[in-house]
Amino acid sequence: MKGTLGTALGATLSGAALTGLATGMPTQIESGDIDSRASLKDEFDLHFMAVGDWGRNGADHQLQVARQMGKWATENPNDFIISTGDNFYPSGVASEHDPLWHYSYENIYTDFSLQWDWYPILGNHDYKSDPEAQVRYSKISRRWKMPARYYSKTFRLKSGEKLLIAFIDTNPMIPEFYKNSEYGPHVAGQQPKKQLDWLDKLLANSDACWNIVVGHHPVYTAGPRTENYDTLAVRKVLQPILEKHQVDVYLSGHEHSMQHLKNSSEHFHQFISGAGSEVTPVKQNLGYSRFVAAEYGFMYFAVNTRQLQCKIVDHLGRTSYSMVISK
Ligand SMILES: [Fe+2]
Repeated sequence: MKGTLGTALGATLSGAALTGLATGMPTQIESGDIDSRASLKDEFDLHFMAVGDWGRNGADHQLQVARQMGKWATENPNDFIISTGDNFYPSGVASEHDPLWHYSYENIYTDFSLQWDWYPILGNHDYKSDPEAQVRYSKISRRWKMPARYYSKTFRLKSGEKLLIAFIDTNPMIPEFYKNSEYGPHVAGQQPKKQLDWLDKLLANSDACWNIVVGHHPVYTAGPRTENYDTLAVRKVLQPILEKHQVDVYLSGHEHSMQHLKNSSEHFHQFISGAGSEVTPVKQNLGYSRFVAAEYGFMYFAVNTRQLQCKIVDHLGRTSYSMVISK
């Protein structure tokens, strides 16, 4: 332990602080200055992981994926974690005190490297119980940061430029849900038009160099739901907004696979990270497929002013895909 601290001090302390140590003068060391994680650096400014469709009490491959996320975030720089929805199977949580918070979240993502901010959104399974309970859990947990069913966050890059992420709730955008006995009571009263207007204005006013939208339902998919009613409903209302504002990335879950899709006629790239515990089949050779795999895992994004990198990491820690979008 002593040797580790010594290495971290040598690697991160400023010249002025070292002078202070040598002369016995008072020093200005803050706890962040001796954080050994400061040695984890690459050419990117901001790093985050994305995992979706996970909460199964550790079953299927949830635990294996969680362990690899912890290992990855220990060995690589990481600033926060995005959950792309379907956070709790089979039917969401009943309240912010539901034992599932412990069985499917707190006792699964235990690595110290995963104790930083999580930015979640809601999936359709989360709408089978009380979706608002997941907002309220933000007051109990330090790391679960969900201020509302939809919200946005802006992150600064080293150049001073910004990255904007809009976290949206796609469930109220699906008309069939209002007639559904399980989803109906929880989408009742939601105002999809108001949310879409908010998103439109947010993107219109954005001065960020990267604009990302995160929603549970995909706009396109090479999974079983290629032409399903939910995919079509979300595509109808979201695709025009993504294109109008030249959004760089649409990130979703819902399909239990790992996908990178891009229509050649459209600006935005779509990523699906929905294999945090279970996998379902994918179709190969669709026109917009760049990479599709029925494999468990998570995505890792790294961003600077010029480049956005995406890696797909499986439940054994293997990087199965890596790509870069350049400005
Ligand atoms: Fe889903």
